[in-house]
Amino acid sequence: MWSARVEPELDSFYRGATLVQDYRPWAVQLQAQGHTVHTSDASFEGFDEVWVFPGRQKQAVLRQIARGLLAASSEGTVRITLHNRGGASRYEKTLRKLCPDLQSTSKHKCRVMTVRRSDVQDEALLHQWVEDGAPRFLEELDAWTQPGAFSWDRFDKGSQVLREALPVDQLKGTVVDLGAGLGLLSRPLAGRSKVRRLHLVEADHRALNACRRNVEAWGHPELQATFHWLDVTTEPLPIKSADVVVMNPPFHEGDKASPAIGQAFIRAAAGVLRTKGQLWMVANARLPYERVLEDHFFKVRKVSESRGFKVLVAYK
Ligand SMILES: C[S@@+](CC[C@H](N)C(=O)[O-])C[C@H]1O[C@@H](n2cnc3c(N)ncnc32)[C@H](O)[C@@H]1O
Repeated sequence: MWSARVEPELDSFYRGATLVQDYRPWAVQLQAQGHTVHTSDASFEGFDEVWVFPGRQKQAVLRQIARGLLAASSEGTVRITLHNRGGASRYEKTLRKLCPDLQSTSKHKCRVMTVRRSDVQDEALLHQWVEDGAPRFLEELDAWTQPGAFSWDRFDKGSQVLREALPVDQLKGTVVDLGAGLGLLSRPLAGRSKVRRLHLVEADHRALNACRRNVEAWGHPELQATFHWLDVTTEPLPIKSADVVVMNPPFHEGDKASPAIGQAFIRAAAGVLRTKGQLWMVANARLPYERVLEDHFFKVRKVSESRGFKVLVAYK
């Protein structure tokens, strides 16, 4: 079951199934229901029935579908469920290039496409889709990345604004990057010998894998870097007495904008910092973070505002 999420109606069906989920908040919810969850790093083959609930981003979706097909036995069947708003009819057209005979049904604004493994007509295209969505080094970013990860092919504008404002020369000791993505915010810090420890915390396992490769390449030889696959909003962070936190917190949960996620990130940052430790964060200028910062920090200051983003520093 690719990209499985907690669904009460599917719970009994999930029992005994192999569940794959790279997004930690959903993996944790499945684990809480007693399921074992695998990340997509593992290899899967020989399944009679495979269900795929693809996410977003074209190369990532096609890779999930292709890996689902490769996980099926030669007699196996793969069912792919896509929401109409997620481009179901467009993906059906694309999938027909691989399996002209696929069956498709629509209900509840979703489409379920059923493909028998033996109906795949173009094995080369199948492998091409796996390759197109695989981890890769992108020259433009000068970093490892993977389609589907946050801002996978460009440096996010908000993160750029924060990086320009960070007093890199003054930051030292133990640094924590919450929602680290590919690690691009931490890049200038990883190379500085005054930064001794770096904790990179990220919910998307694909992004965290890329981040590990990046920080291992960028870090100075004595840097102790630790990579945590964790949900910052619900799980305790195994980090204490940090000197600095940097973050560009997410403000969307699925399709919905929600400042609650950023507010939870702020509480998590306050929880890992030592007294007088500093939080450096960037946010969309309209988002209401000041009150929660003032509740958890001794002093809060707006450092800059540009291109629709504000940079805030808060002292514990
Ligand atoms: C706005 S992006 C910033 C990424 C990176 N720091 C950068 O500057 O390019 C926010 C990151 O938080 C991650 N994220 C979202 N929800 C999370 C959660 N609950 N716990 C940990 N990380 C989360 C996302 O996957 C994404 O990589």
